[in-house]
Amino acid sequence: MSTINYSEKIPNNVNLGEDRTLQRALEGWQPNFINWWDDVGPEGSTNHEVYLRTAVSVDPNGWAQFGHVKMRDYRWGIFLNPGDANREIHFGDHKGEKAWQDVPGEHRANLRRIIVTQGDTEPASVEQQRHLGLTAPSMYDLRNLFQINVEEGRHLWAMVYLLHKHFGRDGREEAEALLQRQSGDENNPRILGAFNEKTPDWLAFFMFTYFTDRDGKFQLSALAESAFDPLARTTKFMLTEEAHHMFVGESGISRVLSRTAQVMNDLKTDDPAKVRAAGAIDLPTIQRYLNFHYSVTIDLFGADQSSNAATFYSSGLKGRYEEGKRTDDHVLKGQTYKVLEVRDGQLLEKDVPMLNALNEVLRDDFIKDSMAGVGRWNKVLEKAGIPTRLVVPHKAFNRQIGALAGIKMSPDGRVVSEAEWTARKAEWLPTPEDFAFVASLMGRVVDPGKFAGWIAPPVMGINRQPVDFEYVRFN
Ligand SMILES: [Fe+2]
Ligand SMILES: [Fe+2]
Repeated sequence: MSTINYSEKIPNNVNLGEDRTLQRALEGWQPNFINWWDDVGPEGSTNHEVYLRTAVSVDPNGWAQFGHVKMRDYRWGIFLNPGDANREIHFGDHKGEKAWQDVPGEHRANLRRIIVTQGDTEPASVEQQRHLGLTAPSMYDLRNLFQINVEEGRHLWAMVYLLHKHFGRDGREEAEALLQRQSGDENNPRILGAFNEKTPDWLAFFMFTYFTDRDGKFQLSALAESAFDPLARTTKFMLTEEAHHMFVGESGISRVLSRTAQVMNDLKTDDPAKVRAAGAIDLPTIQRYLNFHYSVTIDLFGADQSSNAATFYSSGLKGRYEEGKRTDDHVLKGQTYKVLEVRDGQLLEKDVPMLNALNEVLRDDFIKDSMAGVGRWNKVLEKAGIPTRLVVPHKAFNRQIGALAGIKMSPDGRVVSEAEWTARKAEWLPTPEDFAFVASLMGRVVDPGKFAGWIAPPVMGINRQPVDFEYVRFN
């Protein structure tokens, strides 16, 4: 059951060969996917052979194999976690009923929307990252970038499979549209804001994979609870791959900090100008990048009060993070949750029905998880004897969605005047000058074992290979 059939054109563990119509439809979509990859996938990488992991099983012990492959020959496919024939819906109004193997008519529109919105983020991030290979700080990092890119491509496959299998003609049209929208395109942008932002440099890439791929983790975790069993099973397997993406972000920023701290200690300075002159990224710039990526990412959870969120939960489409581990009634009627609002220039909490606040619940779970990693980044500074600490900004800072949208707020959570915001914005969010400086450091370093001067080498290589392993063969 958990073994993947690689003898077919589309690797899969869903017995695709038994459903000829579906198989043909997906084989029809496949060349369009490859065209999309060639057009807007990693730039200039066509002939590279990359040391990639490929899923060979959905067994958590030993699901992947590693080897050098050209990315366009990567075996993208359809992998679902094993099913449980007796699985029951464990939250919402259908609690206790059997999980659905197909889409109930009354939930069709909402489920399609959920799947399309998730699916849209996957190719978007590949598009956002497509130029980064040209400025990789090392061959090791280049390989990690490409690994993430091919896996986001596979996540697109995961959603496209559901659309084709369960949503008929609408699903096929949506699957095409996923290859037509483009990150940052004025006329046909990606669905969610953060996925239309640029990822201009590797500091942004590491922040993106730390924060924004973590949004992916929380959204996928909520969908892994779904009453629609195929969605639950496919998102569970996607989470296995997602862990590496967040690792790249967390370890990437740790290595940047480690290098910065070393320069600060060598020069006995905390003057950002001197740190920059020595070719490292100063801590205030790292903090501003963090503020930006954090605030843009927490917007992805949506409005703090949302009747859609309530509907999605009550009808069993989308659960909470770790729904099964929670000890409440899993129905949530009559319960309340605290959300923020600004009244008379003051930030206040108010109680609202929990069902309507489930976006906020998921956002708060994300915030907790994010802060833990920031704490680990601070350990790098602490160990190096640097007193500065990175701080996660207040959740009302720089928000564009929900009740807090447009409110001028300092990172430490004070409502500020328009004048103070304008005067201090350059302390709080990356400036054009910051971007220009970070861009000036982005030279390509790809000799095995060599690293750009602004980032420390990793502690170990990929799949127990040495750090100076030839992770990418340039042909
Ligand atoms: Fe993904
Ligand atoms: Fe990801």
